[in-house]
Amino acid sequence: MKRKLSRFDLQKMKTEGEKAVWVTAYDFSTAQFAENAGMDMILVGDSLGMCVYGYEGTVPVTMDQCICHCEAVRRAARNTFIVGDMPFLSYQVSVEEAVRNAGRFHKEAGVDAIKLEGGIRVCPQIKSIADGGMLVMGHIGLTPQSSGQLGGFKAQGRTADTAMELIRDARAIQAAGAFALLVEAVPPEVCKIIRDDLTIPVYSIGAGVDADGQLMICSDVLGIFQAFTPKFVKRYAELGTQIESVFKEYVADVREGRFPADEHTYKMVENELPRLLEQLNR
Ligand code: KIV
Repeated sequence: MKRKLSRFDLQKMKTEGEKAVWVTAYDFSTAQFAENAGMDMILVGDSLGMCVYGYEGTVPVTMDQCICHCEAVRRAARNTFIVGDMPFLSYQVSVEEAVRNAGRFHKEAGVDAIKLEGGIRVCPQIKSIADGGMLVMGHIGLTPQSSGQLGGFKAQGRTADTAMELIRDARAIQAAGAFALLVEAVPPEVCKIIRDDLTIPVYSIGAGVDADGQLMICSDVLGIFQAFTPKFVKRYAELGTQIESVFKEYVADVREGRFPADEHTYKMVENELPRLLEQLNR
């Protein structure tokens, strides 16, 4: 049976140059598939706002929604390291709220770690959550919760000055006590500098191959999310198209009398139908 990784296993993987692979999951079935496929980690990302609830971004996502989805994923993937994603306004307002909400992820959903977005400005929160005995992962680069400030869902760190800012953020996040860092939509050269600079694992989503592991959004790799596909995504399947054609076939089968067939129905106990009809005087 698969053994759940610890932060020390993830750290050792970085030291030994072994890549960690992870994916997002928001529901029981997908999490089961992810665990069975041998994922090292699962992120219950606030991208669930777009992928599950159909919001235009992640800002409307609530703590209660995140906890619910983390619980479902935990039930399905008991032997996988699960990271809960702190939604917008669950950690920005104060350090106290950040610690309390990070604690909710652990107490109510049994996650192994939480992730929050931002650089130097969220380091007090990272330090306090870590001081509270919890594992915190940082997230820099394209941070969807502040996409308004960033001017949309755009690659970050493409100039020397903005790359330098990311490097400073990364160093501060490690110094604040984060156990790992996620870098999103950043040129590979910048991610490599950060990966080589930090002692903690640095994971990439859209930040190239020179990272300690790769994360992808399940709805993107499965080809379910239809609104847009970021440049960094590899769609391994087109399940959305397949699902639609299965639904079409089902609709046609019902309308044209092919479903349900005999093998999909229950039989009455022998001789019970005549008895029933007799009782009904038919
Ligand atoms: O919510 C999420 O899935 C994320 C990824 C975009 C990194 O934070």
